[in-house]
Amino acid sequence: MSTPHTTPAQRHEDRSLDLALRPKTWDEYIGQNRIKETLKIFIQAAKKRGDTLEHILLYGPPGLGKTSLCHIIASEMGGGIKVTSGPAIEKVGDLAAILTNLTPHDILFIDEAHRLNRQIEEVLYPAMEDRVLDIIIGKGPSARTIQLDLPPFTLIAATTRVGLLSSPLRSRFGATFRVGFYEIEDIKKILRRSASILDTKTDEKALEILARSSRSTPRVANRLLKRARDFAQVRGEGIITEVIAQGAMTMLEVDMLGLEPADRKILEVLIHKFGGGPVGIQTLSAATSEEEDTIEEIYEPYLLQLGFLQKTPRGRVATKLAYQHLGINLPVDPEEQVSLF
Ligand SMILES: Nc1ncnc2c1ncn2[C@@H]1O[C@H](COP(=O)(O)OP(=O)(O)O)[C@@H](O)[C@H]1O
Ligand SMILES: [Mg+2]
Repeated sequence: MSTPHTTPAQRHEDRSLDLALRPKTWDEYIGQNRIKETLKIFIQAAKKRGDTLEHILLYGPPGLGKTSLCHIIASEMGGGIKVTSGPAIEKVGDLAAILTNLTPHDILFIDEAHRLNRQIEEVLYPAMEDRVLDIIIGKGPSARTIQLDLPPFTLIAATTRVGLLSSPLRSRFGATFRVGFYEIEDIKKILRRSASILDTKTDEKALEILARSSRSTPRVANRLLKRARDFAQVRGEGIITEVIAQGAMTMLEVDMLGLEPADRKILEVLIHKFGGGPVGIQTLSAATSEEEDTIEEIYEPYLLQLGFLQKTPRGRVATKLAYQHLGINLPVDPEEQVSLF
């Protein structure tokens, strides 16, 4: 299956778009007000004490602003930032090199933290807790550990799969924030700003359509805006009107709620092949030819958010709302799917 237009994960084409549209200040960072207010207080307090910020864990589905948040925190703290990711740190030596090269008050950003291996995590614990790095020198009985002091630094880790983080790692963060889906009004604000940066004319009704199709996700909203702009240039006068926005979404097969063929397929398979569930993730993955990780990271969070899907101990269940949205009659025999009612 081709990658959907609304997949919130960063794709190659998004890199420049993400950079161009990335909010750089608190004012530009729309929504997530509780997180913003809390972080502002943390930052002010740390600065007053002349101290570093405590380690922060950011989690939530892709495209919701975790990386942007990290960059804003770094710029507010006025220090440097070093960026890496779980899969990029392969060996203990890689992490040791990063840690020993930090300058005081740097922020170390580790993206995709759920992909850090256990050995690396174990080196991180004392680094986070006591700002020391334990290095083992030599092998066998003559091996000994030396301890290096690290400069004061703040670790900010981001992950789309917080459940995969080990609990000792999770417990070492001073603060943990869940970055959630956005309100439609906030997505509209983000789109307005993006349209002005991209020098594209839109109207309110067009923004409403794009916002509703965005899976409540800023990255997706920006990508849809770009697609609609292309559509407007070819099929219109370059202005994203209601008709153009609707035409672009129809062409992309994105429905009014932001669902794409792949989302609908998951729900349809669940309903038609498994009587609405419950069905385990492995079975669902095999039946839809989508990887388990992709379902859990990309499709499921938004379907759960819409209330189209429920997670039960016995597996995933399609809800009444999903049947209604797809125009499928609910099972006549309630026994068929007790969990629904
Ligand atoms: N709160 C926000 N306000 C404005 N734009 C946002 C916000 N959050 C995300 N974006 C937009 O979405 C893009 C992707 O956000 P990013 O921080 O990379 O998400 P994540 O790291 O969670 O995947 C950003 O480049 C930016 O254009
Ligand atoms: Mg990111």
